[in-house]
Order: sequence, then C-alpha cells, then structure tokens
Amino acid sequence: MCPVRTWDGNTPWLITRYEDVLAALGDPRLSLDSSLPGFPHTSPASAARQSRPLPFPFLPEAEYRAQRAMLVPEFAPRRMEALRPRIQQTVDEVLDAMLAGPRPADLISAFALPVSMRVICDLLGVSREDADRLHVLSRTIGSRASSREVAEKALDELDTYFRRLVEENLREPTDTLVGRVVAEHVQPGRLSVPDATAMFHALFYAGHGPSGYMVGMGVLALLLHPDQLDRFRALETPDALSAAVQELLRYVTVSHMGRQRAATEDVTIGGQLIRAGEGVLAQPDSANRDETVFPEPDRLDVHREPYRNFAFGHGIHLCTGRTLAIVELEVTFHTLFRRIPNLRLAAPLEQIRFKKDENLIGAHELPVTW
Ligand code: HEM
Repeated sequence: MCPVRTWDGNTPWLITRYEDVLAALGDPRLSLDSSLPGFPHTSPASAARQSRPLPFPFLPEAEYRAQRAMLVPEFAPRRMEALRPRIQQTVDEVLDAMLAGPRPADLISAFALPVSMRVICDLLGVSREDADRLHVLSRTIGSRASSREVAEKALDELDTYFRRLVEENLREPTDTLVGRVVAEHVQPGRLSVPDATAMFHALFYAGHGPSGYMVGMGVLALLLHPDQLDRFRALETPDALSAAVQELLRYVTVSHMGRQRAATEDVTIGGQLIRAGEGVLAQPDSANRDETVFPEPDRLDVHREPYRNFAFGHGIHLCTGRTLAIVELEVTFHTLFRRIPNLRLAAPLEQIRFKKDENLIGAHELPVTW
C-alpha cells in the first residue's frame, strides 16, 4: 500500500494486493459515503455530483441501506434468470441486424452496446429510442477528461430525463422496475422524487456501460487467444460457460478503477494504519491479477478453477446488477461465437483505440468480420 496523489491534490491510500482489497472492501469502517472527509473523488465530474441528490451507493449508511433495500426484490436472482429468454431474443435480433449489415462491422456500436442498452432500457422502462442520447451523456459524466461545467450540463440533462420518467410513472404507473419502485416507494412518500431520479439515472449508467464494454473486451481477449476461443466454443455445460465468463471478467476487470472509500475510524489493512478521514482506492484490476491467488494471473484460461474475483466488487457494495450482467454475458458470448464461428478481427491490435479517460476499460471501436 502507498499514498497516491489524485487530480485534486487528495492523497488516498492505493491498495493493490488481493488480501488487502478483500479486507478493505469488506470493512464497514471504509465507507462509500462521498460526503465524508478524505473521500477520493476520481474526477471533476465525480466531485460535481456532490452538489445534487446523490445516487444511493454514495449516501450515508442508513439512507444507503434503505434505498438499496427497495431494489433487492427487483434484482432477485430468480427474477434475473427469468429474463434469460428475453435477453436471448434481444441478442439474436441485434445480431441479425449486424449480420445483415456491411462487413467489417464495429462490434461495439453494432452489437455490444445495443444489446446492453436494450436490456437496461427494457428493465427500467426507458424508451429504446432515447438510449443513444443517454449513453453519450453517460460517457460525458464518466470521463475524467470532462470539466466540471461540461459534467454539470450532462448531469442536468440526465436528471431532467429521469425526473420526467418518475413523474410519468407517478401519473400512470408502468409494469417496469421504475414503475414498481415509484408505486411502492415514491407514491407513499418513502422515496423522494429527486432521490428516485438519482437512483434510476445511476441504474441506467451502471447498468449498460460495464456490460457493453465488457462484451467488447471479452471478445477481443478471446480473438487474441485462439486456443482459448477453441476451448470456449467446446464448453459443454452451463457451469463451464459460467466459469469461463468469470475468467473473462477477472482477466478484463472492466470496472478497473480503484473502488473509492473513506475511513470513518482508524483501520489497519495489510499492516498499514489508515486514519479516520483518509481515503483509499482499492484496485480490483490489480487484485484480480495477484499471483498469490491466481496462478499465472496474466494468462487467460477459460478452464481456470473459479475463485472469487473483484470484477463486481466485494462486500456491502457488491454490484446490484451482477446476476443480470452474468446472464447477459453468458447469452451474449455463447450466441456470438455459435452464430459466427469464423468471427475475426478486421484490424491489427495496434490500430484499435482504447478508452483512456473513463472508470471503464473499453475499445472505442472493434472492427470485426466473418
Ligand atoms: C459486466 C457488468 C458489470 C460490472 C463489471 C459491474 C461492476 C460493478 C462494481 C465493481 C461495483 C462495485 C462498486 C464499489 O464497490 O465501489 C458495482 C456496483 C454497482 N453496480 Fe455493477 N457492474 C456491472 C453491471 C451492472 C448492471 C447490469 C447493473 C444494474 C442493472 C449494475 C448496477 C450496480 C449498482 C447499482 C451498484 C452499486 C451497488 C452498491 O453500492 O450497493 N451493475 N458494479
């Protein structure tokens, strides 16, 4: 562990080893409440959110727990598993359109993002026609390169959009996640309209970018490792597919940035004292390649024995949408390589542009052909 200096002069502790990340993310004294002193904001856009109603993960503990509880039934594993046929249909439709279009195709804009956006739109009850605009605004607020002014403008637009969605559902509830949460919690006054707005905006943001860019990076990883792709295609059971997807999640760790926390009390992690009021950044990508836990960690191995990794975080803030994301990824990878057995890159690796400004790893475009 060592202190690092971030963009605003803050000096949080950087935590990189598996055991230390496990301890940090599992310790309730290290909080995601972004109003706490020492909280390590990773960009001006992240700091800009502080002046408006915050999405629930960043709230003080009692409010956080109350709002998260409202979403627990919505993300129940059985409910997510029941979405599998619908997700399969979405993947097939998007793939049909890509196959009917020109070659080479950009896998990100023709397949990966449309799938993840349609899935989250259908879940929340957001119109699919609005997805592209909401995606562009999401990238603006996710970018470390966005100035505070630019981020504020994008946040305003997103807030306006999701506030209108809440108000529409107050007038006429829909049978969607937004409709149910509005009817059960906003209507009786348990959840305010601004808090609901922030919640749905966060679900759209967190619920499409990581999945979409993960598909792009996972496909790239497999295309660059033909032996692993052959093994992936030969997987015979749902458990084997699920383990292979976990390995792709570990290997890529698409949400790669350090998980931000602030110490509410003195805490010792890995022998290092972190004082109350200091921040930490717990690095999931580094921990996911810790050689003391994952032998030959830089090797992609779709047969690797599954072992807990930090692709979806750990502890109380473990990703709310992980079951949905896993279903989505299993269906997507399996269908793509089954339906296009000769899928290949249409550009050398050196020409692929990667996102360098976001909390997400991803390719801007991924030219593929078949
Ligand atoms: C491959 C896809 C995904 C990845 C890699 C991913 C990754 C993560 C990670 C690492 C965290 C922990 C943040 C922290 O500890 O600071 C997280 C939290 C969260 N994710 Fe995901 N996520 C994915 C998909 C989704 C989806 C599909 C949704 C919703 C539909 C979602 C909603 C959330 C929410 C609401 C949280 C906050 C949880 C809390 O603070 O209690 N994510 N995600």
